[in-house]
Amino acid sequence: MKGEPAGRAREESFSRQLRARLEFYEELGLTPFYRRAAARPAAPPPAAAPRVAAREPVAAAPSAEAVLRPALSLFGEAPGRVEGDTLERVRADLGDCQRCQLAPHRRTIVFGAGNPRAELVFVGEAPGADEDAQGLPFVGRAGQLLTHWIESLKMKREDVYICNVIKCRPPGNRSPEREEIETCSPFLLRQLDVIRPRLICCLGSVALQTLLGKAVAITRVRGQFYDYRGTKLFATFHPAYLLRNPNANRQVQEDLRKIRQFLG
Ligand code: URA
Repeated sequence: MKGEPAGRAREESFSRQLRARLEFYEELGLTPFYRRAAARPAAPPPAAAPRVAAREPVAAAPSAEAVLRPALSLFGEAPGRVEGDTLERVRADLGDCQRCQLAPHRRTIVFGAGNPRAELVFVGEAPGADEDAQGLPFVGRAGQLLTHWIESLKMKREDVYICNVIKCRPPGNRSPEREEIETCSPFLLRQLDVIRPRLICCLGSVALQTLLGKAVAITRVRGQFYDYRGTKLFATFHPAYLLRNPNANRQVQEDLRKIRQFLG
């Protein structure tokens, strides 16, 4: 297909930058925030349980203040932006992705959905069973709660853009592995670069830590605004965490109020 070599070169360049950055952090002794790839037995087929993953809060890393002083991100200083990129191009480059071990287990690639000119983008972790079946992000129980949050911002789902760090469902809704995040997140970064929202709201620690490139505890940094390549970055708990921990609702309501205020 015409344009494929260019797309592949872009991806390889993103992956190289990402790998170098992650190695740099590891050399500094910063804890990895994803599940490490283990010796891989033939993976069993995914269980049918609905996705209510999002294990929060994660173990604390160095203080958020130390970690977040400058506007850090995986691609903080990297040029990275793809000239003339579009969501269609990102989707085309993703193709019928076979780049990681999740491919044989998925039913659908869940690319993302919503307004390509959204002022607000929500980034979750990974599709669950419902999302895998429908090809749309956040359509299960956690998704219903997210819809409720969006409506409380006086917006509709069609007004915002919703996507995930990884685009295929991990078997049994396990946490994404490092290799999967490394392989897939360049597509997320391109999506964000194309949309250029006013605010990116990370839902849970996987999204937050992927964009910051740091193991930070969501409990420390939620509810605060950071810079991410010229866009404000914000984090709150994952809706699936809320489903299991309704006590955190008060904090989420505070976070939603801040988002509402920011967007005016
Ligand atoms: N959880 C996520 O992180 N993403 C989805 O799309 C659904 C549930």
